[in-house]
Amino acid sequence: MSFRRFMELALYHTEHGYYASGRARIGRRGDFFTNVSVGPLFGRLLARQIAGMWSALGEPRDFSIIEQGAHGGELAADVLGGLHAIAPECLAAVSYRIAEPFAKLAARQQEQLRAMASRLEWSRGLDEIRVAAGVHISNELPDAFPVHVVRWTGGEWCERVITAQDGRLVFVDAPIASDELREACARIPGPLPEGYTTEVNLAAAAWIREVAATMQRGFVLAVDYGFRRHEYYAPDRIAGTLSAYSSHRRESDPLARPGEIDLTAHVEFDSLIEAGTAAGLQPASFTDQHHFMVALGLEHFADGANAAERRAFQTLMHPQLMGTVFKAVAFSKGIASGEPLLGFRFANAGAEG
Ligand SMILES: C[S@@+](CC[C@H](N)C(=O)[O-])C[C@H]1O[C@@H](n2cnc3c(N)ncnc32)[C@H](O)[C@@H]1O
Repeated sequence: MSFRRFMELALYHTEHGYYASGRARIGRRGDFFTNVSVGPLFGRLLARQIAGMWSALGEPRDFSIIEQGAHGGELAADVLGGLHAIAPECLAAVSYRIAEPFAKLAARQQEQLRAMASRLEWSRGLDEIRVAAGVHISNELPDAFPVHVVRWTGGEWCERVITAQDGRLVFVDAPIASDELREACARIPGPLPEGYTTEVNLAAAAWIREVAATMQRGFVLAVDYGFRRHEYYAPDRIAGTLSAYSSHRRESDPLARPGEIDLTAHVEFDSLIEAGTAAGLQPASFTDQHHFMVALGLEHFADGANAAERRAFQTLMHPQLMGTVFKAVAFSKGIASGEPLLGFRFANAGAEG
């Protein structure tokens, strides 16, 4: 079995998958933290960026916020709360559409967002969503897509697939089975040492094509951890970025306990940006989370901050916490280029790769 198929089953099998079963727990008492689990500040700051995008679209009366990977619905609550506080006229135009394939998670979101139900709609996938004007948002979505694992033998790429040996699952080498994967491997820059093992996320490219098709005009804003291509495939990153987490600890074997632990790989942003551009999105804005948060935080904190918000801001933006490895990328569609987006006005040369 390809690792991609294994990861798909381990995370998304309806009954046994870590996410689809509803077993995944995020936050202090869960398996890992996200920007959202740090507290409401992240969503409140995103609301400022979203309100800016609504203005750039000419303040349409029907404006959709499409969220994918909404998990427990916290980000939706934080964004809607933020719009209520800073841009009520934008909020009045909003339909908030959550694309959620998993019934257990949709039920949790509906419970969490009961008080705001009139603004919300659910669908099972992006193919059910077509809007005139909107923004698609996600936090830590493509890092949870199933990836292929590949290995450089010195002369060519091979795929690391899964087999059972002596009662346990292990990786073994196999020839690359698809042209799409072979072509993606050919784009990995060399030279690389023999045995170099890494990941290829073909699902992320397919996803951004689907996202592009949801709106006539608008924006796509994705926040996730990862690197530009040269940093992702740096010769010294010999074991790639594939990781497994449980109770905030990194598990040594991603094949042990399928369905009980989180599996994730960092996002390689150049491939994502190239796929988005090929799908008709306009060239992206890109920065690290430090610069993104500072740009959005300036106005937010103009009147001061309470201690909880100060702590949350530190965690989100500090380069040694979540400020460097997390990145924000934004695409636009059907919009004449204008002012840089609020959150990207301090975009740093380092993160441009
Ligand atoms: C790492 S979690 C992030 C959750 C949340 N956004 C946060 O930041 O706390 C990834 C989430 O993406 C969801 N997901 C993965 N593929 C998806 C898809 N095709 N459509 C919607 N959600 C998806 C998973 O079920 C999971 O809830």
